[in-house]
Formats: sequence, structure tokens, C-alpha cells
Amino acid sequence: MLTVRAPATSANLGSGFDVFGVALERPADIVRVEKADRTTIEVTGAGSQFIPEDPKKNTVGAVAEALDAPAHIHIDKGIRPASGLGSSAASAAAAAVALNLLYDRGYTREELVPIAAKGEAVVSGEAHSDNVAPAILGGFTIARDDGVTRLNADVPLVACLPEIVVSTRDARRVVPDGASMSQVVETVRNASTLTAGMARGDPELVGRGMDDPVVTPARAKLIEGYDDVREAAFDAGATGVTISGAGPAILAACYEDDRHEIASAMLDAFDDNGVTSRAFKTRVGRGAERL
Ligand code: HSE
Repeated sequence: MLTVRAPATSANLGSGFDVFGVALERPADIVRVEKADRTTIEVTGAGSQFIPEDPKKNTVGAVAEALDAPAHIHIDKGIRPASGLGSSAASAAAAAVALNLLYDRGYTREELVPIAAKGEAVVSGEAHSDNVAPAILGGFTIARDDGVTRLNADVPLVACLPEIVVSTRDARRVVPDGASMSQVVETVRNASTLTAGMARGDPELVGRGMDDPVVTPARAKLIEGYDDVREAAFDAGATGVTISGAGPAILAACYEDDRHEIASAMLDAFDDNGVTSRAFKTRVGRGAERL
């Protein structure tokens, strides 16, 4: 029997739609695996009542099948589903790392990324690796079709999760079909700025690079209070604010000393909109690890 912790992640970071991702120091899912003749799944913790335990419908079931590694799998959710914080990716990443060790399959961490992404496809309908890559590898990741580039990064963040449910499928439906050349230029400028900021550990550059003229404005309409929460976070010192993943969590980049004030401001702004929320004072963190 062995246990692996995999972190929440935030994909996109505004300008890097379906490409960028970061591992968050907290929250996290914890997955325990034990060899068995066939795969069975038990889920406890945050939002577990909404997660199917049927291996054909659960992310970790697809991972166990891909690795030919049947097991009793217990998932303790620290990240509720449909949050924008990579909930299903964390479970898939933890299961991939755990089952690879349990059955001594010998895959490298990089090779486990597309395997865990297959699990992701079970819930979102498409295999994205922008959440599973940082959940497995940690740090800041750039997901391509042919692999992942990873950078160590240390940037303070606040993630504020409202009690609203936005499914990834719905959030993808509102993504515009195209972008103008000026939007493309702005996106490239911001994405490059953000990458430089991650490499330098510079919250100012990371924040500036989070602006996205295409996807985020379309999705913001699905999150009650988004504009107010964004403005409140900036007023409290955030260097950048965007939707985390497909939402509804909102992510702010900042300096360490401002995290507390930003978290309070975001919570208050959601509250003023009649929405209960929870804030995580976090930072770019490590990938999945055996406990
Ligand atoms: N990049 C994805 C999206 C995140 O924003 O829809 C979910 O994998």
C-alpha cells in the first residue's frame, strides 16, 4: 500500500489558455492505493458526494486502466470538483504516480503526464495536460502536444473559491472561436511577460502577464461578482488577477506581505455579491509526492 499527495493547480494564468499551469502549495488531494484483482474506488472529503466511484466514470479508473494496474484506490479530496483548481487532475496525477510505483512500471514523471491526462478526459471530455503537468511535475509548466517544459518558480498567490459551480464543459462553450490580430499580439506579449516573471520569481511581471483579452472576458460572465472581486484584489495590492482554470476560482498574483489583505478583500467582495467563498493563501509549489 502507498500514499501520494498531489496539489491543486491553476491552469491558463490568463494569457496561457490551455498551455500554462502552476502547482499550488495548497490545497491537495491524497490518494492511497493497494494492489487488487480489479479496480475499486472510494472517495471521501471535499465534494466527494459529487464524484462517481465507478472506475469507468472516475479519472483514476482511467489511469489504472492505462497503467494496467488494478487497485483499491482511496481518494481523500482536499479540492472540491468543478472549482477551477484542477480537482480531477490532482486525483489523476496522484493515482498515476502512486500506481506507477505500486506496480513498478518505471515511467518517468514526464511520461506519466499524458497517462494522467487520459483520466482528465473522462470528466472534461478532452485530454488537457495544463493541469496534470504541474500536478505531477510541480512549478510552472508550459504544455505542448509533444511534451512539457517546466520552470522552477516561487511566486506568492491567492486563490479564492466561491460556492458557485462552473463546469469545464460550460466554460469551454463560451470560448470565442477566433481572435483579432491585435488580440493575438497582446496575448503573445502578456504570455512572454508572464514566463519571464516566473523565471525571475517576479510577482510584478507575472501579474502584468496575466491579462487576457480573449478567453477570460467571455468566461467572467459565468462568475457572479467577478469584476468586483478582481477590482478588490487589485486595490489590496494584487499584481495580477485572472480566472483560475475554467473557474469559478479566481487567482491573484502578489507579494508575500499582501496575501492576507488580498484574501480578505476577495472574500468581502464575493460576500457583497451574496456569494460565500473560501480563500487559500498559497504560492507556486511542488508536484505530486509520496507520503
Ligand atoms: N485549460 C482548461 C480550460 C482547464 O481553461 O478550459 C481545464 O483543463
